[in-house]
Amino acid sequence: MSDNTLLKPIRLGTLDLPNRVIMAPLTRQRAQQPGNIPHQLNATYYAQRANAGLIISEATQICAEGQGYAWTPGVHSAEQIAGWKLTTDAVHKAGGRIFMQLWHVGRISHTLLQPNGAAPVAPSAIQAKAECYVQEADGSHHKAPTSMPRALPTEELPGIVEAYAQGTRNAMEAGFDGVEVHAANGYLLDQFLCSDSNQRTDNYGGSVENRVRLVLEVVDAAVSTVGDSGRVGIRISPMGTFNGVDDANPLETFSHLIKELNSRQLAYLHVNKPDWVGGTYEGFDELLQALREQYTGQLILCGGMDASSGAEAIDSGLADVVAFGRPYIANPDLVARIQAGAEWNNINPATLYGGAEIGYTDYPTLNG
Ligand code: PHB
Repeated sequence: MSDNTLLKPIRLGTLDLPNRVIMAPLTRQRAQQPGNIPHQLNATYYAQRANAGLIISEATQICAEGQGYAWTPGVHSAEQIAGWKLTTDAVHKAGGRIFMQLWHVGRISHTLLQPNGAAPVAPSAIQAKAECYVQEADGSHHKAPTSMPRALPTEELPGIVEAYAQGTRNAMEAGFDGVEVHAANGYLLDQFLCSDSNQRTDNYGGSVENRVRLVLEVVDAAVSTVGDSGRVGIRISPMGTFNGVDDANPLETFSHLIKELNSRQLAYLHVNKPDWVGGTYEGFDELLQALREQYTGQLILCGGMDASSGAEAIDSGLADVVAFGRPYIANPDLVARIQAGAEWNNINPATLYGGAEIGYTDYPTLNG
């Protein structure tokens, strides 16, 4: 037996995990077409990784408007729910646990991806300096600048919250062990949190209390739908600028959010480091330390770690659990490798998005 910190069991919310190695949510764009339906190939991929203490699914659109990239899976049609059952059954059969990450991209989308070619929705009508991925009518596909969004009127916000509630209901029906609210990386909820993308003058913009409001309504809707706050987590990316978001005062914004989350006793707070896409973020370590001290629940940290820095993050008290993204793509047996102190396979960037088995279910394990 190894005494590696990463291999110690932990209780997260109302879930017992055999280790502290989380599989991070990872977009792979391999849903079956047409209909963005999860299928057997996805079930095989996730089951190969059931050694994780917890798998968090790839970001999954809760409604058609929530999609920002071609071939990402949804959880809003009967076929998608049935398709996800293949994955949850396979993961459970392999001894694992899996949450679904609930996704609405907001303005990180394109008219080609939207029902009836409509404009994507956002807190304010401000175009993101970011790209999405589209498929043309002739089948060709490519990156594209995001389209100009329309600002959501206040009257439409209850419908957004209801879409998250429905997504939660569908995820639980599909057999997930819980849900993670995606409030990170410049997607819809992060667009509401960040001062630059949220220029609203109603109760959902302006002050920090207002910018945090929609996120809390979504969290509360997810909790009441699941009926167990210990099976709901949330992911944030303080100081992150991916997808063109920018917040004038991340310490103030995220401190307020955390103060509100503390009373809700969620399964966890999942923090994605801003440098996962490269770049340097002056002051992030201090910000993380401050947020860590404020949060009274369990914290998952994700971004650019290896076995030793992951264990160090836990040993130093910065995190309770760590999540691995790209390493889990390339190493289906990541926990066994940590246990054995073995080398990790390198990722092939060419097969990250789209395609089928190659670069998805064919990464070798230690046993070949
Ligand atoms: C992506 O598809 O590039 C993507 C999706 C979700 C994230 C980050 C990136 O949180």
